[in-house]
Amino acid sequence: MKKSNGKIKYNIAVFISGRGSNLKSIVRYSLKNKTLYKVKVVISNKQKATGLLIAKKMRIESYYVDLTKSKKLGKRVLNILRKNDIKLVCLAGFMKILPAYFVKSYKGKIINIHPSLLPKYKGLNTHKRVIENNEKYTGCTIHYVNRFLDSGKIICQRKVKITKKDNKRSIEKKVLKIEHKMYPKIIDKILSNL
Ligand code: GRF
Repeated sequence: MKKSNGKIKYNIAVFISGRGSNLKSIVRYSLKNKTLYKVKVVISNKQKATGLLIAKKMRIESYYVDLTKSKKLGKRVLNILRKNDIKLVCLAGFMKILPAYFVKSYKGKIINIHPSLLPKYKGLNTHKRVIENNEKYTGCTIHYVNRFLDSGKIICQRKVKITKKDNKRSIEKKVLKIEHKMYPKIIDKILSNL
């Protein structure tokens, strides 16, 4: 915990696997607004994740560790989190299921954003499946992480309307736009209840 302008700042970690657009929006929001948090650490399970470049550019401590590969690597990440006094872990495009011991170590303190209205469309290729099923609405969900895929308690959801003109790409764009607004704010809200 760090004090900035007399206010307490909680350290958070963001886990990524790829592009990192949510990471970028979370960091930007935390820098421009009076948030309760600072993105202290970024962990990627992919060495070539663009999100790692974003972290470097924004001078955030970042690591490439595939923590799901072995317990030794998972423990290494837990040590990094503890050393940095991380209060909340935010998965943002992290494409692996966290091992049970890892979730247990940070019980109730890991959240994820998923591009569908959970419990519908867990897993990959959500937009493609939404179109194939002629859904009228889709959206995104922020939820607590448990050891099952996209299954923890839902924290909040936003709906997005699908029109006849929409395709996979346009739906992804609409949903991401909402994600970028919603995720940074929800992190603040969760931390305010700690
Ligand atoms: C987002 O749509 C998020 O909901 C999902 O993966 C995507 C990650 O995008 N879990 P980005 O890496 O944040 O750009």
